[in-house]
Amino acid sequence: MELVGMGLFCVILGLLAWVLWQWNEVWLVKPLLRDGVNLPPGHLGLPFFGEMLNFLWYFKIIRRPDEFIYSRKKRYGAQVGMYRSHLFGSPTIIVSDPTANKFVLQSDDLFEKHWPHPELVGANALVMAEGKLHKRLRKFVIDALNQPRSLRHVILKVQPRIVDALRHWASKGIIKAEHEARRVTFENICHMFASFEPGPFLEELERCYSGVVAGIRSQPSNIPGSAYQHAFNCKKKLSKAFAIELEKRKKNGSKSEDFLDALMNSCDEDGNHLQEKEVLDNIFSLLLGAYESTAISIMWALYYLSKSPHCLQRLREEHIEISKKKNGDYITIEDIRLMKYTSKVVEETIRLGNVSSVVFRIARQDVDFKGYRIPKGWKVSVWLRTLHVDPNNFDDPLNFNPDRWDAPKPFVKDI
Ligand code: HEM
Repeated sequence: MELVGMGLFCVILGLLAWVLWQWNEVWLVKPLLRDGVNLPPGHLGLPFFGEMLNFLWYFKIIRRPDEFIYSRKKRYGAQVGMYRSHLFGSPTIIVSDPTANKFVLQSDDLFEKHWPHPELVGANALVMAEGKLHKRLRKFVIDALNQPRSLRHVILKVQPRIVDALRHWASKGIIKAEHEARRVTFENICHMFASFEPGPFLEELERCYSGVVAGIRSQPSNIPGSAYQHAFNCKKKLSKAFAIELEKRKKNGSKSEDFLDALMNSCDEDGNHLQEKEVLDNIFSLLLGAYESTAISIMWALYYLSKSPHCLQRLREEHIEISKKKNGDYITIEDIRLMKYTSKVVEETIRLGNVSSVVFRIARQDVDFKGYRIPKGWKVSVWLRTLHVDPNNFDDPLNFNPDRWDAPKPFVKDI
């Protein structure tokens, strides 16, 4: 009798698991298939969770993020390059193929940008804007970044802190690369963007920015103490700090000539200035984007160079050659143009470091590509990192080899 009960229990459990596994496919996919829509291969996973458990397994437990995509390529075919899934609470098409990635990223008319939490980035930020608004904001931001502080000026501005940091690191012998890269980058960027100087206020700002970064891809939740709530509170504190600074400048005038001043003062052809909320959202979001990406890139450069002594040696030789002619002066844009090997190291670090490993879009309408349909309203995750470590695109892809970049792009354009 007991055996029968056990058997029945196992059958019911198996049935339940099967129903749960088929749920999303039956409700979200079958109706489309019935209408003759050819969706990319894949599976939408469990109700509510979708494939998040599988995603977390690869990203958080075994810490092999690329395997998440490889397992799909293996199961459904590497050539396809597009797979259906259900991630972060929504049906999603994962795109991981050079032509498909290019197609999605270059079709702003078909796909709108999607950040997991617009409220953490700022509704008026350039990264959130679309169409005409995007064009308008982009002009303001580009003008502000280039004037009055051109790149020529920025290069001289950042060097004292970089030189101090290098001396400090050399004296320490062993450093925590991420911590140090973050510190020097944050100080430099705050100085360039808002003339904030090191001290307790900057330390508090850095803590808040780290809080936003930690929650930017978390599940939205009102639970106190959750990563999302913490990020939201940090964003509020940061916006307040910038609003106070803006108010001060409006009242007392400002001769800081930093990015905040440039954003406040620049105007379009009709003489219109940015609105206050646009200034605040853009200073906040640009600092976030510039800080996180630059700090993590520097960290990876330190990591890869420390693991590749021959590359470090060649980099050193190039720099020593240039510094011999400088008599202790800071380097200029002209010197940077001579740094051919350095340019290759930057390219290779960005490739392997994969600071921005995935970007998000939403289909504005039904989109057909390579015979498959991306349904309107579905999210699209464009995977950049898998292309960078794919042996079809790069020989021996996990090897740090700056020389694979035969003719690196000049990373300093004529200005
Ligand atoms: C290694 C460093 C960096 C990497 C890997 C990186 C990566 C990216 C990526 C992938 C996007 C596109 C996001 C999307 O389309 O969803 C983007 C956009 C953007 N980034 Fe960066 N970024 C870096 C440094 C910076 C810096 C230093 C700044 C500012 C000073 C900056 C400002 C921006 C802006 C304004 C956009 C939005 C452009 C637009 O919507 O027109 N980035 N970045």
